[in-house]
Amino acid sequence: MKKILFAASEGVPFVKTGGLADVVGSLPKCIDKQYFDVRVILPKYTCIKYEMKEKISFITNFYMDFNWQSVYVGIEEATVDGVHYYFIDNEHYFGGPKPYCDDPCYEIEKFAFFSKAVLSALPLIGFQPDIIHCHDWQTGLIPVYLKERFRGDLFFTSMKSIMTIHNLKFQGKWDVKTVQSITGLPDYYFTADKLEAYKDANLLKGGIVFADAVTTVSETYAEEIKTQFYGEGLDGLLRARSNDLRGIVNGIDYTDFNPTTDKYIVKQYDAVNFRKEKVKNKLALQDQLGLTKGENKMMIGLISRLTDQKGLDLVSYVMDELCQDDVQIVVLGTGEDRYENMFRHFDWKYQNKVSANITYSEELSHRIYAASDAFLMPSLFEPCGLSQLMSLRYGTLPIVRETGGLKDTVQPYNEFESTGTGFSFTNYNAHEMLRTIRYAEHIYYDKKREWNKMVDRAMAADFSWDVSAKKYQEMYDWLIG
Ligand code: GLC
Repeated sequence: MKKILFAASEGVPFVKTGGLADVVGSLPKCIDKQYFDVRVILPKYTCIKYEMKEKISFITNFYMDFNWQSVYVGIEEATVDGVHYYFIDNEHYFGGPKPYCDDPCYEIEKFAFFSKAVLSALPLIGFQPDIIHCHDWQTGLIPVYLKERFRGDLFFTSMKSIMTIHNLKFQGKWDVKTVQSITGLPDYYFTADKLEAYKDANLLKGGIVFADAVTTVSETYAEEIKTQFYGEGLDGLLRARSNDLRGIVNGIDYTDFNPTTDKYIVKQYDAVNFRKEKVKNKLALQDQLGLTKGENKMMIGLISRLTDQKGLDLVSYVMDELCQDDVQIVVLGTGEDRYENMFRHFDWKYQNKVSANITYSEELSHRIYAASDAFLMPSLFEPCGLSQLMSLRYGTLPIVRETGGLKDTVQPYNEFESTGTGFSFTNYNAHEMLRTIRYAEHIYYDKKREWNKMVDRAMAADFSWDVSAKKYQEMYDWLIG
């Protein structure tokens, strides 16, 4: 049995701020249990909801040298849906109302602590993974520590690591002196070919340099990040490591996201009866959100972290124009003030057309996927993107910019060949986006049969984890040898 440990800063069903948590929560379930024992380790945040905290039990504790002190490390565990989870407990680092805070230096200290604690805990719990699969900058120090202080210990000598990049934008950077003092790593590690980048210490860079393999979450993003535009300053390194870098597209949990059984939605439907049944979800949502009622009002959903990455400045730029059309726009998400306020403003200005829900709600998100006709995702960059996959699953046609995972998962409509599962545009340009939305409106209103055939194709597309989980397994096999 090959043993894999996922190390991450968030994972469904315990804690989620973004897509990373969905991947960490769903991929381990889909790795073949006959050959692999996949477990997951997360921080035990105080903000984990009570129902989930209840499932966690204490294993043991110890004190670890860290940041010039001797620090408490609790090890706890839980089993959910057949997956074994471990937790690192320390209320000083993982307390507070949210998993992350705004102080970058403190975040670095917190996750440096987590990374070192993960490795230090392993001999005590008797789980000796063949591979530690690390996710994003928060776990970037694991490959580094593994090659440094833990290497001499026989328990760790043949342990491999993988670094998966879910978002290159976030790297965990702070000045070398401070990071060196926090991590206790020697000078040797803070050179431009290792942790140092542009005079700062960079934790993700450390992970990329020291991991045995590097992956990211779509093939297109794996290519894009080797260019200056998408490379966030690390394109040179990623080009240098291109032999060890591969893109594996994410899947979604096909049980959680299933219009035939979804408990959150008003009317369940499937690929056969969607023509009659799906619209009942729209009527119910129009009621719930106070929008003009009508089966034939084209509804466009937008569910997202409200950040720059998501292309919201394009939306903001043409929102007035778009609202002259016969469309309804339903937004769900939280994030930067300027985008929250922008959507609140348009909600106020176009009351029965725009509904801005500046909050986080699993239930409402499912209702929007089910109710909408189209789903807008004009991202500036998108490593993979999961919402467009959820939309496809619910027969809601994505309108996307051709970048990263959006390019790999949404096939643009071709009216001459009657192919495609959504609509897409190339350039980061507001009117190019608007033109594409209007083209979608035209198909929706004037060529309903074509639209519905596209829904057929969207619902038939397979973005479950099956295919991608196999690719991870191949990589594990290859690395373990
Ligand atoms: C990040 C990326 C998103 C990706 C997710 C899971 O949130 O921004 O594109 O789908 O990670 O890999």
